[in-house]
Amino acid sequence: MDILVIGAGGREHAICWSLAKSPKAGTIYCAPGNAGIGEVAELVPIQVNEFDKLAAFAEEKQVGLVVVGPDDPLADGIVDVFEAKHIPVFGPRKNAAHIEGSKTFMKDLLKKYNIPTAAYEKFDNYEQALQYLRSRPVPIVIKADGLAAGKGVTVAFTREEAEAALKSIMVDKVFGESGSQVVIEEFLEGQEMSILSFVDGETVRPMAAAQDHKQVYDGDQGPNTGGMGTYSPLPHIADSMIEEAIETIIKPTAKAMVAEGRPFRGVLFAGLMITPDGKPKTIEFNARFGDPETQVVLPRLKSDLLDIFLAAVNGTLDQAEIEWSEEAAVCVVLASGGYPASYPKGLPIGGLKEARAAGALVFHAGTAKNEAGELVTNGGRVLGVVGLGQSIAEARDKAYEAAECIAFEGKHQRTDIAAKALI
Ligand code: AMP
Ligand code: GLY
Repeated sequence: MDILVIGAGGREHAICWSLAKSPKAGTIYCAPGNAGIGEVAELVPIQVNEFDKLAAFAEEKQVGLVVVGPDDPLADGIVDVFEAKHIPVFGPRKNAAHIEGSKTFMKDLLKKYNIPTAAYEKFDNYEQALQYLRSRPVPIVIKADGLAAGKGVTVAFTREEAEAALKSIMVDKVFGESGSQVVIEEFLEGQEMSILSFVDGETVRPMAAAQDHKQVYDGDQGPNTGGMGTYSPLPHIADSMIEEAIETIIKPTAKAMVAEGRPFRGVLFAGLMITPDGKPKTIEFNARFGDPETQVVLPRLKSDLLDIFLAAVNGTLDQAEIEWSEEAAVCVVLASGGYPASYPKGLPIGGLKEARAAGALVFHAGTAKNEAGELVTNGGRVLGVVGLGQSIAEARDKAYEAAECIAFEGKHQRTDIAAKALI
């Protein structure tokens, strides 16, 4: 069966790499992909927002399945476009992807169904928002309602920071229409974890849990990024806690979406905080695979990813075989100097062969080939280096050893990925 994967990041590289292991997979196309994805898939020069071109390509090639990676096309209804043409597609429709596309919708849904999350108020008026903000203690969290490339959230530790964040969202409109509403939310302390699940309506099949590192610098310092590294499993978090999160948060949310007439089919990604009282609470829901969570989760999948996607599309997800290996995985992201602010592009990258020879998986994110055919940087997050091992310590050593082999000007990585799991 030929397959079309849509997206261009490390997540999509991991998805294509995992699909390529399926004996049922024929040609894997990826639009637009990146230099590394080109090693396992045929690259198609169509952008993720060109829905009609993508649908025409899928029809022409008669692909048996389309898989959508990123949030923006999902929120804009790409799945509805494929479904209207009767092309099998894995991903949520627009009305279900709304759980990520609008934080006010998500918070109101959780409140209505009594699903644990941080207390909040929402505003579409700046003066009222400011008045409320001034009545609340810090730390406090300010969130733009809509999608903002992972940058719409400020955890403010001072009043100045909080007011500046509110102004930049609502007055300066740095995120455009995504900032026409804001959520002002209680600050939650604790350990974060990400649980991604394959979901079809009320059927929830959780994947192995993972933990991301959002801030750009060691010790969780500096601005938030899309994610600087991940690991899985989480040895310092009890299985009973993960089970509780699934039973009290993820399954009730899938059920609530069905009750609201927005059944979710695809990957539902729960960002959770385990608060000091030992209870998991929801921070966010995403309507897609996480990046770089996928890079540590899919290498641990023992079952056939294509079979799981097809089961979800055919309504038989409850019967799908989904097994996880005991192995640990650690992903270290190599970023361009300057990221998450501005950064240069087109810098030559060396040492990939050596990194792979050191036993790591290297997933490409922002890479391209230049006119001379050399591999160059082409984004903020450039590569994800994944080590696998019998323990987090072993996987981590392997990832860092391999990351050392790779060189490009300005390369930045955190040195403390998975450190929390080793204490
Ligand atoms: P989000 O884009 O919603 O994932 O938020 C980005 C990051 O901000 C999360 O991964 C958390 O680290 C942090 N964050 C979001 N909401 C809260 C909250 N209510 N309390 C503490 N930290 C939060
Ligand atoms: N790594 C977090 C995300 O994909 O949103």
